[in-house]
Amino acid sequence: MMNPHDLSHLLPSFTGAENWRSGAVPVFARGEGCYLWDDAGNRYLDTLAGLFVVQIGHGRTDIAKAMSEQAEQLAFFPSWSATTPITLEAASLITDLAPGDLDAVFFVSSGSEANESAIKFARQYHLADGQPTKTGVVSRIDAYHGTSMGALSATGLKPIRDPFLPLLPGFSHVPNTLGYSDGVEAARVVEEEILRRGPEQVGMVIAEPVQNGGGSLVPPVGYWRELRRICDRYGVLLVADEVICGFGRLGAWFGSEVVEAEPDMITFAKGATSGYAPIGGLLVRRPLVEKVLDSPAGSFLHGATWGGHPVVMSAAIANITAMREERVLDNVAGHAPLFEARLHDLAGAHDVVMDVRGTGYLYSLALGHSRQKGRDYSDEDSKRAVYEVLPPLALEAGLHLRVDDRGGAKIMLSPPLVAADDELDEMGERVSQILVQLAACM
Ligand SMILES: Cc1ncc(COP(=O)(O)O)c(C=O)c1O
Repeated sequence: MMNPHDLSHLLPSFTGAENWRSGAVPVFARGEGCYLWDDAGNRYLDTLAGLFVVQIGHGRTDIAKAMSEQAEQLAFFPSWSATTPITLEAASLITDLAPGDLDAVFFVSSGSEANESAIKFARQYHLADGQPTKTGVVSRIDAYHGTSMGALSATGLKPIRDPFLPLLPGFSHVPNTLGYSDGVEAARVVEEEILRRGPEQVGMVIAEPVQNGGGSLVPPVGYWRELRRICDRYGVLLVADEVICGFGRLGAWFGSEVVEAEPDMITFAKGATSGYAPIGGLLVRRPLVEKVLDSPAGSFLHGATWGGHPVVMSAAIANITAMREERVLDNVAGHAPLFEARLHDLAGAHDVVMDVRGTGYLYSLALGHSRQKGRDYSDEDSKRAVYEVLPPLALEAGLHLRVDDRGGAKIMLSPPLVAADDELDEMGERVSQILVQLAACM
């Protein structure tokens, strides 16, 4: 498909130059529910909720209306020496949903900024606690925590880190949970790393409840309980990056509840507004907030002009309210078994599906030459499948679909949380169609 638009003035995120220059990318003009239309009027099923974002679905005029009303009343004031009523309302709504005593929120505008804020909060906390050397961060291989230099330092994906070395000092990456069936065993690498570095050097461990990078890695039972034990033992803050897992993606408001995590901080973004406005946030346990506020610094020495932006807050409140009233989390819980069954049907019908991983509405299909013969793709094959073969097949099949070769070729499926029987059946049928073509091409 050639694009009639001039794409040359836009420098896109992580998009291959060849595809962009040839115009082989869709230009989406409209959305409704789980569907998108490009500017030529072609309809696509959105199997990725934009980018793990649009929980409530596209085209919600109620959210647009709430934003427009707020913009008319007071479009902007920062949460900087003052704030606005709607910012306070959103803070109270979101902290009410958050688990345990995570009852203070610092608003920003993206997931990267949220993680950046967590890294800085951890440093300031340990400083306030009289432990200024605890600046190190442990995260996991193949994890994506964002692209700003602090968040990128925590990110464990070599191809997007290496061009930017040197990054922040004191960050190390340990194996994720792939291949482990025992939670305590899987967490041992974290304890070993803290001991190797010296607990006095390590201030924070960050992980996603279910790691997206590497393909929807659901941790074995007991993993997060063990992380909690390790962090308590060595005085390290435990951070759950819920940029993807939060706001219903795993069937609960926060993924921490699903994997039995008890983090000191939660970072969130994407789904909190379903993408109607850019949001990010850092939730922090009350005693940690008090420690920082009571320290000689007297405040969290961090700020963002857009943090708590009134129009963004109105989008978050309208989105969360609609999700509650329309019982969107129940929709995920009710349909997750069908979603999983459809993916296992695909694995049964297609030998190119090596593995099905995930939970809730966050799944990956790992791809290779033959599951039955145990023949994985080589790195070269993975790249060809992901960058050359699958993107045009997906568009022809009317799917907005994510393919990824980090940690092996895979299709990631993460539709709007309002997807129900019809959309999940359609997704299964259309993905089946492209898997037949993939097998023929590779
Ligand atoms: C787990 C996770 N953390 C952080 C980020 C960074 O978020 P953003 O792109 O909003 O900066 C992402 C983005 O996809 C993510 O998936």
